[in-house]
Amino acid sequence: MPKPRVFATHSLFEAARQILQETCEVEYWAKPERPPREEVLPRVKDKEGLICLLTEKINEELLSVAPKLRIAANVAVGFDNIDVAACTKRGVVATNTPGVLDETTADFAWTLLMAVARRLSEGEELARSGKWKNWDLDQLVGTDVWGKTLGIVGFGRIGRAVARRANGFQMKVIYTDAQRAPAEVERALKAEFWEMNALLAESDFISVHVPLLPETRRLFDAPKFKRMKPTAFLINTSRGPVVDEAALVAALEGEQIAGAGLDVYENEPFIHPGLKRANVVLAPHIASASLETRTKMACIAAENVVALFRGQRPPNILNPEVLKAS
Ligand code: GLV
Repeated sequence: MPKPRVFATHSLFEAARQILQETCEVEYWAKPERPPREEVLPRVKDKEGLICLLTEKINEELLSVAPKLRIAANVAVGFDNIDVAACTKRGVVATNTPGVLDETTADFAWTLLMAVARRLSEGEELARSGKWKNWDLDQLVGTDVWGKTLGIVGFGRIGRAVARRANGFQMKVIYTDAQRAPAEVERALKAEFWEMNALLAESDFISVHVPLLPETRRLFDAPKFKRMKPTAFLINTSRGPVVDEAALVAALEGEQIAGAGLDVYENEPFIHPGLKRANVVLAPHIASASLETRTKMACIAAENVVALFRGQRPPNILNPEVLKAS
C-alpha cells in the first residue's frame, strides 16, 4: 500500500517529522519564507493530507483543486484561516492544536502588559542608544502593575492562565465571557464575572483572549475605547481583527487610553503606522513562540494527520460530523 501523500507548508520540527515519517509520504515546504498561494495550490492537487500554518487560507478555492484531500491540520489553536464549513462539505477533516500553548501565550500577554506598563521598549532604546546620562527621579516613570485591576475578555483556557498569574501580583481580576465560568474556577482564580461595559470602565489593564468569530470581529471599537479609563492599557494576543485598529489609533491619539501591548494585527504583517508610538509595545505574532510550545504544536498537527490515516479519530478534530458521514 502506498503511503498517503501529505504537503506540509513548513519544514516543521524534527520531532514532528519523526511522527509523520512511518505513516505518510510528506513533501515539505523548506524555504524560509511562507509559500505564496501559487506554490501551495499545485502542491495540494494530488495530496491526501495538508499541514498548514495560520498564514494559509484553507477555503473553497484550495479545496476545489485538491479532490483527494482528507485532512487539513492547522499548526495553531486559532483556526479562522480555515473555512471549516467548506471542509465539512467536501468531507475534509480540519484540526487545530488546543491546550499546549495556553501557558506560553499567557506568559506573553504578561510580557506585553509589563513591558508597556513599565515602558520597557523606551527604556531599552535609551539604554542601547548611548544617550543615557544618569539615574533621574522622574525618568521613564511608568505605572504600577501590582495591586491594579485586570479585566480579562474571553475566559477560556488562555484567559484563565492569564488570571492565575495575576493572583501573584495581588491584582483584582475581573472577566467577561459569553459563558460564565463554574463557581469553583472563579474561586480558585479569585476572578469575578462582570458585564463588558462595567469591566471596560473598571479595568487598569484589559487583556483579550477571544477567538476570532463573526461576533468578535471589531469587538473593540470606538465606543468601547470611550468607556475605558484614560489610564488603562489594552493587551491583545488573540487575533488582530478583534480590535478595530483605526479606532485604537484614534483612542491612543486622543489619550482616551494610556497605551497598548499588541502581538496581533488586522492585516498582518502590515502594522498601522499610527500604532508605532512610544506608548505601544509591538510584537510580531509570537505569543506562542517558545521552542517547547511550537515543537508541541507541530507534533500535535502531525499526530492528527497520522491518526486519520491509521483509521483513528484525530484527537483535535473540529468537524467530527465528517467522520460520522463516512
Ligand atoms: C497562534 O496565533 C495560534 O492560534 O496558535
